[in-house]
Order: sequence, then C-alpha cells, then structure tokens
Amino acid sequence: MQEKDKLTAECVDLNHQGQGVCKFDGFPIFVDYLLPGEKATIVINRLTKNYGFGAILELLEKSPNRVEPRCSAFGKCGGCEIMHLDYSGQLEYKKQMAISTFHKIGHLDNLPVAGILGMDDPYFYRNKVQIPFQQQNGKAVCGFFKRGSHEIYPLSECYIEPVLATAIAKFLRDLFNDYRIPAYNEKNRSGVLRHVLIRKNIVDEYMVVIITNTRTFANQDEIVRKLVSHFANIKTVIHSFNPKDSNVVLGSKSRVLFGGGILNEKLLGLHFTVSHQSFFQTNFEQTEKLYKTVLKYANPKKNETIVDGYCGVGTVSLYLAGHCKKVIGIEIVEDAIKDAKGNAMINGIENAEFMVGKAEEEILKLEDVHIDTMVIDPPRKGCDPRLLAAIKARKIGKIIYVSCDVATLARDLEMLVTDYEIKEITLVDMFPQICDVETVARLELKS
Ligand SMILES: C[S@@+](CC[C@H](N)C(=O)[O-])C[C@H]1O[C@@H](n2cnc3c(N)ncnc32)[C@H](O)[C@@H]1O
Repeated sequence: MQEKDKLTAECVDLNHQGQGVCKFDGFPIFVDYLLPGEKATIVINRLTKNYGFGAILELLEKSPNRVEPRCSAFGKCGGCEIMHLDYSGQLEYKKQMAISTFHKIGHLDNLPVAGILGMDDPYFYRNKVQIPFQQQNGKAVCGFFKRGSHEIYPLSECYIEPVLATAIAKFLRDLFNDYRIPAYNEKNRSGVLRHVLIRKNIVDEYMVVIITNTRTFANQDEIVRKLVSHFANIKTVIHSFNPKDSNVVLGSKSRVLFGGGILNEKLLGLHFTVSHQSFFQTNFEQTEKLYKTVLKYANPKKNETIVDGYCGVGTVSLYLAGHCKKVIGIEIVEDAIKDAKGNAMINGIENAEFMVGKAEEEILKLEDVHIDTMVIDPPRKGCDPRLLAAIKARKIGKIIYVSCDVATLARDLEMLVTDYEIKEITLVDMFPQICDVETVARLELKS
C-alpha cells in the first residue's frame, strides 16, 4: 500500500476521533466520516509504520445510522466530529468506546456499565464557547480550527453553541474589522484579538470576555457600547490580557468593562455566581442528570462527611450538602473558591467548607476528619497519583469518580481496583456531535 492509492474499504469500527476504522490484512486505515458497516472507495492520504489515513472518494454502501449533518460547515470546520451519525448511534458509539477504553487502558473487563443518559434535543447545548480569532486575507475571522490544523474555518452558523453566542462573536469580529484592529498572529505574536469567550446562563443572559495580546485595545469604549446596545442579553463584558505564547485562552490579568463581572446561574434549585475564570459544566440539561447521578451514587446519610476533591464553584458540594452532615470542597483556582464560599452564603448553606489548593496536597491536611465519601471530578488529565494513594491509605469507604476523559479514568480505576470494587458506571452525554463523553463511577472499599 502506498500514499495516493485508491482502494475499496469496509469500515469495521469508529476510533476515538470518530474516524472510520478499515483494516487491510490487519493494517488499520482511519477514514474521516466513514461509518461502521459502510463501504467506500477511499484514497490513502498518509501512511505511518503502524497505521494510515484515508478520505472517502465515493460512498458505495451507506449505514442505516447515517444522517444528513444539520450544519453546512460539518466536515470543513473541526468543531463537530460525528454529526453524520444519528443520535442513537452516537450514544451507542460512546458506550462501546468507553467499554473498549476500560479494557485497553485500564485492563478492566465486564464493568457494570448501566447505560448512557442522552439529551432530548442534542443541539445548541453549549453554555460556554471559546472562539479563536485569526487574520485571513487582511481581515479578522473567527470560528473553530479545521480538523488537525491551526487554521480557522470562518464561522457562519453553529449547531452546538447558542445562536446568540454565534451572533455575538460575528458582531465583535465585524466591529474589530470596522476599527481595523487586527487579530492575533500566533506565528509572529503580532496583532490584538486572540479569543472571545462567551458564557450563557439558564435565563439566556450572557458574559463576554474579550481576550487580547495587548494590555488595552483601541476604541474599547465604542466597541463595548455598540456590543451591549445591540445585544440586551449581555450582562457583563470583561477584558482579559493574555500576552503568553501558549494555547491557554485566558490571561491572568483582567478588567471589567461593563456590568458586574459575573454571571448568575441556577441549577437544581440552587443559585451560583460564576466568575470568568471559574469552571462551570457546559451543558445545563445534562449537568442536572450528572449531579443527580452523583447524589444517587453517593447516597449519603445525614451523619456523613463528604470531600469534593475538585469542586470548582461548589456546585456538587452545595448540592450534596443538603443530604449529609458536612461537605469539604477543595479547588486549585482561588477565584472559584471565592465563588464557592459566596455560593454557600447565597443559598444559606452552613455545612460546606472550602479550601484553596491541590486536592492531592490538601487531603493530607484533613487527617483528623473522618471522610465517608470522596467525590473526584478532575480535569481531563485525571487524578494525581498522590491523591489516589491518599484515598487508599485512608480507606475511604466510597468514591464517586466523575470524569470527562475515559482514558485517564481507566488509568486511575486500574490503580483503585486493588482496594475498591467498581459497583456501577453511568455515562452522561454532555457533548453531542463530539466524541467525548462524561462518566460517573461508584466505587466501594473492598471488605
Ligand atoms: C472538571 S472541573 C469540575 C468542577 C466541579 N466538580 C463542577 O462540576 O463544576 C475540575 C476542577 O478541578 C480544578 N482543579 C484542577 N486541578 C486541580 C487539583 N490538582 N486540585 C484541585 N482542583 C483542581 C479545576 O480548576 C476545575 O475547577
């Protein structure tokens, strides 16, 4: 087999990026937008020692799960990966992908995967978007990066972010072009506008964060005035200064340009204020299902203490606090802990405490506390092994592990199964049209 070869291929599986897997004498070729059961004429675009990549030239046999993607940019813009697969097919794919990852990475088989909770309407669900800007042909454009590249596919419509978020990003793009303020160029680090972060709450109010490479930007007052007078739903505008040569979106310095600098959220009957640097789950409908699963799995008694190891603005902690004696939340971002403490106050919750720091270090300071249940919801990279070691050493009875990356979850579960039994796993589809899936696992100490 050589690059540019044209072959007839049969797709047997989907990989973790949603590409069709075709095998030629056992040698895998990954083909964009081909689905299991489908046959196609493909062209080989790239070969490595262990696998290759191909593209569809002609689809010969179609899967019954194939649907017409709703977005005209699908396949060009890299934002969505599996919009060509019907929603029941997406849910089944995510479940099978999780099971195979537990096997391949965690060497764990026959795990009790109860099922996957899907959305009623799997579109327009993101309540936070970070839209990069780039200069193309002398003008600022915004959108998602094309698959596997750092070139932006210009945004015209989007079916996973709120319609108003798309409109706000395009309006800002036009304003910056009107004032001839160039977008950031990551190669020579010139230009101004890097990203716009847009957050929406459950009552359709918006926070807009303008992230630039420069300490200030020209025509700032006019830009903000025009933006907020065009979109009455924008409640606050923030400027974040990020001169760093990295992929991190937000800078460490920021100023409020309009409004109070925070967004008010409501989840499961509780009120939360969220500042622009704090983490908040990106899909309201599914977050409620996720947190209800955490509560069901924790099943706390009124005399129990729970530690919420990666607590963000205290959402899970405060939800659980109503069902147990005490919750202690730990979180690395100082602003998020300020939000969490404020959130406890506005909800009148007095049995929740919060600590700033790394979960793997702060847990060691809780020597004198009897912990009944440990909730862990780490970022994609999973838990620091020191935290897992501390949990095992303290023989904490129950662990509820919430994860947005099945691969690191599988790695961490393998470390825990020496001492813990995995009782049940539920998947929650927080990210329709994209390959990622959220997972909740309930573990109990072996007797
Ligand atoms: C996936 S979020 C979960 C937040 C929260 N459970 C929720 O549902 O909103 C992970 C959180 O862990 C925080 N974090 C990252 N590394 C950490 C560490 N080593 N110790 C404590 N918190 C950490 C992040 O800032 C983020 O708020």
